Amino acid sequence: MVNLSTKYMGFDLKNPLIIGSSGLTNSIDKIKDLEQKGAAAVVLKSLFEEQIMFEINNNVNVSDVNNSYPEAHDYIKNFTKDNSVGDYLKLIKGAKKEVKIPIFASINCVSFNEWTKIAKDIEKAGADALELNVFILPSDINTTSEAHEKMYFEIIEEIKKSIKIPVALKIGYYFSGLVNTIQKFSWTGINGLVLFNRFYTPDINIDTMKLNVSNVYSTPEEISTSLRWIAMLSNKVNCDISASTGVHNYEGVVKQLLVGAKTVQLCSTIYKNGPQQLEKILEGLTKWMERHNYKSLDDFRGKLSLGKVENPVFYHRVQYMKHLSGTD
Ligand SMILES: Cc1cc2nc3c(=O)[nH]c(=O)nc-3n(C[C@H](O)[C@H](O)[C@H](O)COP(=O)(O)O)c2cc1C
Repeated sequence: MVNLSTKYMGFDLKNPLIIGSSGLTNSIDKIKDLEQKGAAAVVLKSLFEEQIMFEINNNVNVSDVNNSYPEAHDYIKNFTKDNSVGDYLKLIKGAKKEVKIPIFASINCVSFNEWTKIAKDIEKAGADALELNVFILPSDINTTSEAHEKMYFEIIEEIKKSIKIPVALKIGYYFSGLVNTIQKFSWTGINGLVLFNRFYTPDINIDTMKLNVSNVYSTPEEISTSLRWIAMLSNKVNCDISASTGVHNYEGVVKQLLVGAKTVQLCSTIYKNGPQQLEKILEGLTKWMERHNYKSLDDFRGKLSLGKVENPVFYHRVQYMKHLSGTD
């Protein structure tokens, strides 16, 4: 019998599969189904800072937030009218009553200000942890990388002051000194790092000459970015790492554990294949461990992280060379 349990941010999880923040977790019925199919924890759909601020100052016009992020604008226009912070707190309370798995709340933010008050309400409602989805697009020509990073540190500091439940930081990879910056984030007292978030990407329809959103769901090939950086970071950070983006099957889960992740977050594959994909992944992981005579995840976790792997050039090398790629 293999043991799939893992520790993440102080929680004893029955296995490493967490459902990533998305519409997959926006109702109690969906969360119950995900638990029943094997999810070890869920991250609720994010509340957006702009939405919280909109409710705090309910005289704010929707157009005032247009210039922050297009997704925030859409979210506020299409979501806020049917949902509120109050509904979010109800979802947390309801989920805590109905399921045994940990419930992680999520806030999508770009600054710190009054919205941090809501973190206390989220804690009071019973959320087991809070995932902060922070993405500040480094697009302002006058903002240096130091000033850009400072905003992340300020948000973490403010949130850590307000709540006692564990905090995870979910980020993208747009930092110039990526490993150094992430290591410093891990020294702030956060309990988890979710590497990496995946963002809306713009595309152009050349017939209508209009901009649209491309590739809402990830592909299995997209796993490589988080694999590389988790391999480089897993034994250099002071908190647990949850792998995110491009994990679609048990092979992806095995790879992320081999580079040192404590858990993996699943989103696109559940949208595409339904919650039963969890059962398939757990079965595949169990059989793979049996084939390799591993009894627990710790028997192989981090085995291929940087420092343990024989040929680190595979993580370091970024330019194609014939002897590595086999192609000229
Ligand atoms: C439809 C959809 C909605 C999402 N909503 C959120 C969200 O509210 N908050 C968040 O942090 N991430 C959100 N994400 C990102 C996912 O949590 C995840 O990080 C990303 O999809 C990469 O994982 P995947 O490759 O397993 O899909 C969303 C993704 C999708 C596809």
